[in-house]
Amino acid sequence: MIRAGILGLGYMGTVHTQKIAAVEGIRVDFVHDIDPGKKDVAEKAGYTFISDRSSFLAQPDLDIVIIATPNQYHRDFAIEALRAGKHVICEKPVTLNTAELDDVLTVAKTAGKIFTVHQNRRWDVDYLMLRDVIAAGTLGQPVAVESRVLGERGIVFGWRADPAYGGGMVYDWGVHQVDQILQLFPERKVTRVFAQLWSVNTLQVDDYFKMELVFDDQTSAHVECGVFALEKLPRWFVYGDAGTLKIDDFTAKNGRISKINHKFTVEVSEGVDPVVGSSRTMAPLRPEQIQHMPLPEAVNGGEPFYENIIQACQDPEQLAVKPETVRRTMQVIDAAFASAKTRQSVEVLI
Ligand SMILES: NC(=O)c1ccc[n+]([C@@H]2O[C@H](COP(=O)([O-])OP(=O)(O)OC[C@H]3O[C@@H](n4cnc5c(N)ncnc54)[C@H](O)[C@@H]3O)[C@@H](O)[C@H]2O)c1
Repeated sequence: MIRAGILGLGYMGTVHTQKIAAVEGIRVDFVHDIDPGKKDVAEKAGYTFISDRSSFLAQPDLDIVIIATPNQYHRDFAIEALRAGKHVICEKPVTLNTAELDDVLTVAKTAGKIFTVHQNRRWDVDYLMLRDVIAAGTLGQPVAVESRVLGERGIVFGWRADPAYGGGMVYDWGVHQVDQILQLFPERKVTRVFAQLWSVNTLQVDDYFKMELVFDDQTSAHVECGVFALEKLPRWFVYGDAGTLKIDDFTAKNGRISKINHKFTVEVSEGVDPVVGSSRTMAPLRPEQIQHMPLPEAVNGGEPFYENIIQACQDPEQLAVKPETVRRTMQVIDAAFASAKTRQSVEVLI
């Protein structure tokens, strides 16, 4: 039985307790939170609440610490937990930049403990579908992938609106989106990053961003997130050289795959198209020249994150979210911030 402790019993700390409750072989025994109001909540749920962080980390019966505090504490708390001889699961963003992550990784190496990050969106059903459709070759070579997460509430609230806590959408969603893109093409290197960040309604942090990642084979990824879009664009859009994929939302139930029907020669259109006007290039295909196919059945296989943690505690090689993969994400995030600041694209090899 792996005995876990939650460091920060807020929204995500609570989600971790729920995820762990569904898995055999691991249980939550301890909770630490700076907010004394969490004592009652923790004790009602049957956990031992420890108000002092050092005493929490010193518990001999604590095997693994789950860090679910606001972002700016992640580096220091991960280092403290590793030095206390505990395995560590850290919430995303793992740290605020690569230099901070390297500090943690140096300690993790000496400690000989597991250090991993809750990049749970690697198992999202929409993402797995995207990955499978690309891998099946249905689209040919994917030339460009677009990832969008667009919300409509208008503002970023709580500590996420405060730069001192590591607020803003790049740290909130950008790290998930970049991580997904890098996992999609692990063999490709990112060679250029261009990013723009806006603070439209939440003035201290980015509430809208766009990033372009260019890979060494000149394919590209567009990553975008904003909180004040009142219309939706697809969650995923892929331009393949043999087809187009559109996944509309997180359910992966809406969208389609479209392919040219090669039984027909695509002839140049003549004359003025009644809809497009005078453009032969943009004139639509005739219906029989294009095939629209529904998305495959969405398979929600759950998120085997904690099952994997149990395996990795026996054999660290089995760890699903390896720190070096998250380090690539942080390097891209560093480049995105640098690009936004200088208003230039940043040359990298990540
Ligand atoms: N992986 C995901 O899908 C996902 C989703 C949401 C949040 N998160 C991440 O989880 C983390 C927490 O986010 P949240 O939405 O749960 O925030 P939250 O504000 O709901 O919870 C944070 C908790 O940490 C506690 N806390 C704050 N400072 C502390 C300190 N110094 N020591 C101990 N406890 C402290 C707070 O009292 C609160 O209970 C963030 O890093 C966020 O990015 C991840």
